[in-house]
Amino acid sequence: MKLQDIEGIDELMLKYKFALSELTNKITILLEEYEFNNKTDPIEHTKTRFKTLESAESKLRKKGYEVTMDNLINHVHDMVGIRIICSFLTEVYDVVNIIKSSKQFRITAEKDYIKEPKKSGYRSYHLNVLVRVHLKDKIEYVEAEIQIRTIAMDTWASLDHKLRYKLTNLPDNIEDEMYACSDEMVLLDKRMEKLHHEVLNLEDK
Ligand code: GTP
Ligand code: MG
Repeated sequence: MKLQDIEGIDELMLKYKFALSELTNKITILLEEYEFNNKTDPIEHTKTRFKTLESAESKLRKKGYEVTMDNLINHVHDMVGIRIICSFLTEVYDVVNIIKSSKQFRITAEKDYIKEPKKSGYRSYHLNVLVRVHLKDKIEYVEAEIQIRTIAMDTWASLDHKLRYKLTNLPDNIEDEMYACSDEMVLLDKRMEKLHHEVLNLEDK
């Protein structure tokens, strides 16, 4: 059975679409309000994502789940998502706090892959949230994924994704080299952060 042939899948995708638009709107408001109040814009750019049914299906199969709508809802946590790219490391944590203290979303999972990178070397802060969607005669909560990271982390993740897309199992030497690149990227983020603070201090005087 293919996901796209399952009865009710179109209605579910419509809900994900609404959730993505709610999520985008709420995040935009939170960040713009923060910028207005603090006279500083922590965001380099944002990018929304909508997984294709094909990709959701292969994720289910890879995780060993039957291709059903329930499994899609319960085990694919990133059908829709938003990626928030910050200029500096401290801003990543600022954004996390803005989102968490807003009470706009119910947070279902929180993973700090910056403090504890994945074994690939992947670094990013993840929040899985439930987005409230108002339908004609009911309210539903739809899951979405928020990824927050620096430009450097994003550059690494994007190259990593490209390499893994070409080859599912990377040879050990390439895995090691990618991990080393990720470590270098952390040093770069720290240096840039330091410069950022030096400039902020000069600005104050
Ligand atoms: P999965 O999405 O199946 O991995 O579920 P999970 O609960 O393990 O979520 P996880 O927090 O590991 O990651 C979800 C998303 O983070 C993925 O869909 C990717 O976008 C991103 N991600 C996680 N690990 C990596 C990695 O090693 N490299 C890259 N480029 N992205 C990653
Ligand atoms: Mg994963």
